[in-house]
Amino acid sequence: MNSFSTKKMQSTDDVPVFRKKILNWYDIHRRVLPWRALSGKIASPYYVWLSEIMLQQTTVQAVIPYFLKFIQKWPDVHALARADIDEVMTAWAGLGYYARARNLHKCAQIISYEYNGVFPNVQIDLKTLPGVGDYTSAAITSIAFDEPAVVVDGNIERVFARYFACNIPLPSGKKYLKRYAALYSEGCVDRPGDYAQALMDLGATICRPKSPLCSDCPVNEICIANEEGVSEAYPVRKLKEAKPKRFGFVYWLVNEHGEVLVEKRSKKGLLGGMYGLPTSEWDADISCVRHLDFLYAQDSCDPFFHIFTHFHLTLYPVFAKSDMVSFDGTRYVWKNIDEFDGLAFPSVFKKAISLFSL
Ligand code: ADE
Repeated sequence: MNSFSTKKMQSTDDVPVFRKKILNWYDIHRRVLPWRALSGKIASPYYVWLSEIMLQQTTVQAVIPYFLKFIQKWPDVHALARADIDEVMTAWAGLGYYARARNLHKCAQIISYEYNGVFPNVQIDLKTLPGVGDYTSAAITSIAFDEPAVVVDGNIERVFARYFACNIPLPSGKKYLKRYAALYSEGCVDRPGDYAQALMDLGATICRPKSPLCSDCPVNEICIANEEGVSEAYPVRKLKEAKPKRFGFVYWLVNEHGEVLVEKRSKKGLLGGMYGLPTSEWDADISCVRHLDFLYAQDSCDPFFHIFTHFHLTLYPVFAKSDMVSFDGTRYVWKNIDEFDGLAFPSVFKKAISLFSL
């Protein structure tokens, strides 16, 4: 079997038809999302940028409340630039991938102080900003400035993988899908922003990963995977290798005032700059993991699991004691449990705290 669907690749004659069908569908079925402009209007670059940073690796449903909270607290890029970074990190807590929040704040400061609050409208300039890469710069260019750009997120990738019945497994297939997407978007000046968002919505609501609703799809008659009745088989993926496993201890250390020892994690690395409970090193073998040297284990509960992007973590919750009277105050602080809400712990530590509090 040819690894490309040459049926379509020999010609791009169907580009105008494809685009017209997609845009007509969008005019009726577009999702109402808080960062989107009303039909016929162009969205604020601040809203588009903020939402696109939040939407990196995160679902629309998870992003909506965070987006609303951010625009209420910081209605424009100048307000966000002036915000305290700790307040931004707290507002971001729970959304994950915390480097995004730090980059968001840096980027807001650059836009506010160096660009007078005006976002650049070309990809090459946007890509110089912290946290803004290929995808995000393309999304901002098309959605906020209505200029043609090749926008390819996971949803759009799936639409093209099916439309062309692309047999090259992801992730290597990505670059071919991007080429297809480029053929169907470059140089097309008719409503580039709506076109990009239409593809996103089509991918999210019709061309879904599981049980796609092909009979409701505006391009079903010209989609190869649908013609062949095998939409769900695309995109083809390389079998995933199992994620590595890491193991460690997480501690609950209480002082004579009933306060709990909390770690302010180093700015660099996983969950950087966030508050957490003290933990041991995380290693591939629990028998190699040593307890923190300033405490000793008293009692423990059953382990729990947490999945990070690059590894699976198993943590053993340990009630601990310590003879030390003071700690490195830049790294460890005593906190009353009543203050925990304000510390905005990442999910892995929320799980641990709920186990310790049982
Ligand atoms: N996913 C990423 N960006 C999006 C957007 N602007 N609208 C809907 N879903 C998205």
